Amino acid sequence: MDHAEIIRWLREEDPEILTELWARADEVRRDNVGDQVHLRGLIEIGNHCVRRCGYCGLNASRSDLQRYRMSRSEILDCVAQAVEYGYGTVVIQAGEDPAWTAEFIGDLVAEIKSATPLAVTLSLGERSDEELAGWRSAGADRFLLRFETSNRRLFDHIHPPLPGKRSDREAMLLRMADMGYEIGSGVMVGIPGQTYEDLARDVETFARLDLDMIGLGPYIPHPDTPVGREDSSGPDQTPATEELTYRVMALARLVCPLSNIPSTSALATLNLAEGRELGLLRGANVVMPNLTPQQYRPMYEIYPSKACIRETAQQCHSCMTRRIESLGRSVGSGPGSSPGYTARSIKASGDATCVR
Ligand code: 5AD
Ligand code: FES
Repeated sequence: MDHAEIIRWLREEDPEILTELWARADEVRRDNVGDQVHLRGLIEIGNHCVRRCGYCGLNASRSDLQRYRMSRSEILDCVAQAVEYGYGTVVIQAGEDPAWTAEFIGDLVAEIKSATPLAVTLSLGERSDEELAGWRSAGADRFLLRFETSNRRLFDHIHPPLPGKRSDREAMLLRMADMGYEIGSGVMVGIPGQTYEDLARDVETFARLDLDMIGLGPYIPHPDTPVGREDSSGPDQTPATEELTYRVMALARLVCPLSNIPSTSALATLNLAEGRELGLLRGANVVMPNLTPQQYRPMYEIYPSKACIRETAQQCHSCMTRRIESLGRSVGSGPGSSPGYTARSIKASGDATCVR
């Protein structure tokens, strides 16, 4: 799909014409990753963060936010729940926080991998190659790091660098792919200062990076952040809407047919009644039920009014299962790796078996 066509779809507002985009995305999803919806149990292990991302409610400048770090045994209790609920993957997520040391995370991953059949996804911010390689050796399967926007100027504006550290998330993702991780990334739709051109380049970047996982959600202003207080009304400004997020999601499916695409909580936050379902009908094939203990959920306040903030792990589990089944789709079994990654690993191991 060329640049002009991506732009045309991003700007398309006619619901009748858009039905063609939804149908194409749904068909490509079914043909490439099937009807199973994989469940990834999300454990938000802590909300401390050393970064000052201008849009994020966890940023280090927020002195009013109560902070937490879960203990190893609390985390392992959540992991046990993932096994009990039949999930294939746990996602260990936190702010960028050096207190999660190479050793602590490495031991945790090794313990999960030896005691359970789960795939382990890490989402711990920008970390050193040494840490990433160590966690991969300990058994970590996947890493999520959104590049947030492919517009470098906008990226720098919303991500004040740490002293002496210039982010290059695309390069970090490619190095992780070389280490053997399945790599996931993505963007927020409608960040102040983002144009349609930027968003089209974001979609092209998904394809260029050959992402195994693509996470997308609408930007949701947080009033206690600098970007949350910015005006965003330029003529080319993308709106932070549910509709535009579905368009980006459908395009992501078309340019990366084999990737795993979650229907995200940010979508559910804008449309509690059916945001998750519409995502699953417009390209997505994954959901991430929250396993974080209830007492910590309100503190993981990336943006306000986040979906599932008052629910328990059990409630999210039943809710997700019901939503998937209401669409006539089935709950996935096993780790649910991206078929693109599986094909890559077979090729790398020199095994000549045909993957299809
Ligand atoms: N609105 C929507 N998404 C957000 N994220 C962070 N802050 C916000 C916000 N205000 C997303 C970022 C980050 C992911 C964990 O959450 O894309 O990578
Ligand atoms: Fe948490 Fe629906 S997934 S309440």
